[in-house]
Amino acid sequence: MLENKVALVTGAGRGIGRAIAQALAAKGAFVIVNYNGSKEKAEETVKLIEEAGGCGAAYGCNVADFTACGEMMKELIARYGHIDILVNNAGITRDNLLMKMSEEDFDRVVDVNLKGCFNTMKHLSRQLLKQKSGKIINISSVTGIMGNAGQANYCASKAGIIGLTKSVARELGSRGINVNAVAPGFIETEMTEVIPENLKEAMKKQILLGRTGSAKEVADVVAFLASEEADYITGQVISVDGGMAV
Ligand code: NAI
Repeated sequence: MLENKVALVTGAGRGIGRAIAQALAAKGAFVIVNYNGSKEKAEETVKLIEEAGGCGAAYGCNVADFTACGEMMKELIARYGHIDILVNNAGITRDNLLMKMSEEDFDRVVDVNLKGCFNTMKHLSRQLLKQKSGKIINISSVTGIMGNAGQANYCASKAGIIGLTKSVARELGSRGINVNAVAPGFIETEMTEVIPENLKEAMKKQILLGRTGSAKEVADVVAFLASEEADYITGQVISVDGGMAV
């Protein structure tokens, strides 16, 4: 259980992030629901948490902004005293074939998905070292392992998260801090809603279990990694993809 733990989940106003926030709160954590765009959606997540008997609060910050992430951590630590769990979930896509991909679309995806993880971990690391405990879970993707045509920027950012996770796990392990990545497969959210039906069907054929996953199925694994049951797991990439990347 996660009583007395404070968790920060980035991009938790909808989709997988919202499900992760709910799963952590259901285990007793106080959950800070980070958002960038919609405060209303983040407050909706907090409301869902509270309706289920949990506690949380919304906090706005663009994870791609290094300075803003520093200010967020400072303010949250001043407010709550500690942060025990960090889930880097915020992510975007700007899909296009390499030939057509703009520099701006490449940079933006890497800035949010990969640098966002660096920004939050960097600014929280001092506090975690002081606490001599902590759990960091970074959301990668099956595409960071396999690659995907039309997603060079996204796949590069998600593969980068794996290297970043393993490196930070090596740096912080001796202080009792666990750093892992979760690599979801094809999960039904607003992010994947936009994929054309014929492509979706082709993707499903690659999944050993023959179906897409739910946000809750990813969230349950994240909640496990955040718990003391996972104290001896670090530097790992856990696939939650129905066997897509086997
Ligand atoms: P989503 O698009 O529904 O949610 C992403 C969230 O991140 C949104 O709430 C968005 O507002 C937030 N966000 C975007 N930029 C931000 C920023 N700069 N600062 C703070 N928050 C920001 O997507 P979904 O499907 O819930 O994905 C969540 C994570 O899981 C992402 O990292 C995604 O790449 C990853 N993922 C999703 C898969 C899927 O099939 N849906 C598969 C593999 C990985």
